[in-house]
Amino acid sequence: MSKPLLQVALDTDTTAAALKVAHQVGDIVDVVEAGTLLIYQEGMDAVSDLRAIAPNKIILADAKVADAGGHVAKVAAEHGADWMTCINAATVPTMAAAQKEIEVQVELYEGWDNEKRAQEWLANGVDQVVYHQSRDAKAAGQVWGEQDLNSVKKLIDMGFKVSVTGGVKPEVLKLFKGVPVYCFIAGRAIHGADDPRQAAQSFKDEINRIWG
Ligand code: 5RP
Repeated sequence: MSKPLLQVALDTDTTAAALKVAHQVGDIVDVVEAGTLLIYQEGMDAVSDLRAIAPNKIILADAKVADAGGHVAKVAAEHGADWMTCINAATVPTMAAAQKEIEVQVELYEGWDNEKRAQEWLANGVDQVVYHQSRDAKAAGQVWGEQDLNSVKKLIDMGFKVSVTGGVKPEVLKLFKGVPVYCFIAGRAIHGADDPRQAAQSFKDEINRIWG
């Protein structure tokens, strides 16, 4: 079974703060994400700046695109992104247009459990999804559990590469033991830590321990 990748989600307010963390964890993580919150503040230039300091990493623009997929994907790719997110509510033509320009990840929030729609994503070459517990749902008390595990397994069985995110901490990873999760995405647990490097290493150690 392949080992899950580790992605740092840089939902910082400034590019300077994101670059500082990227410098600290760049040799530990596999994917560097320009977070939605960062893109809202600094635009796609944040993506270019992260690309410049992490030339050999996968760069994700977490734009959560809902429409004009091809246009935004082209801009993201021109700024150096390898991957870009679309929200699950976007139409299939939006996903397909984006996928022609960049590798799309579909961010799953609500109302995504429609197998016919998910099959259309696959038919259009979109084979990455992000299983997401939203920041606001977590603040309202949502926790990781068996239901999430079953949903992730179902998506993998359908043929998706599944990333897992939303308030993920190293201790959450063992829930997915034996499951080929594609990538774990951690934001605040890394960029909000006193020592982001040590925090990123804790995730890597746990991935290595569980998926050895
Ligand atoms: C917010 C996001 C975040 O990037 C993702 O949830 C990871 O952040 P955290 O670990 O802080 O929850 O997509 O919409």
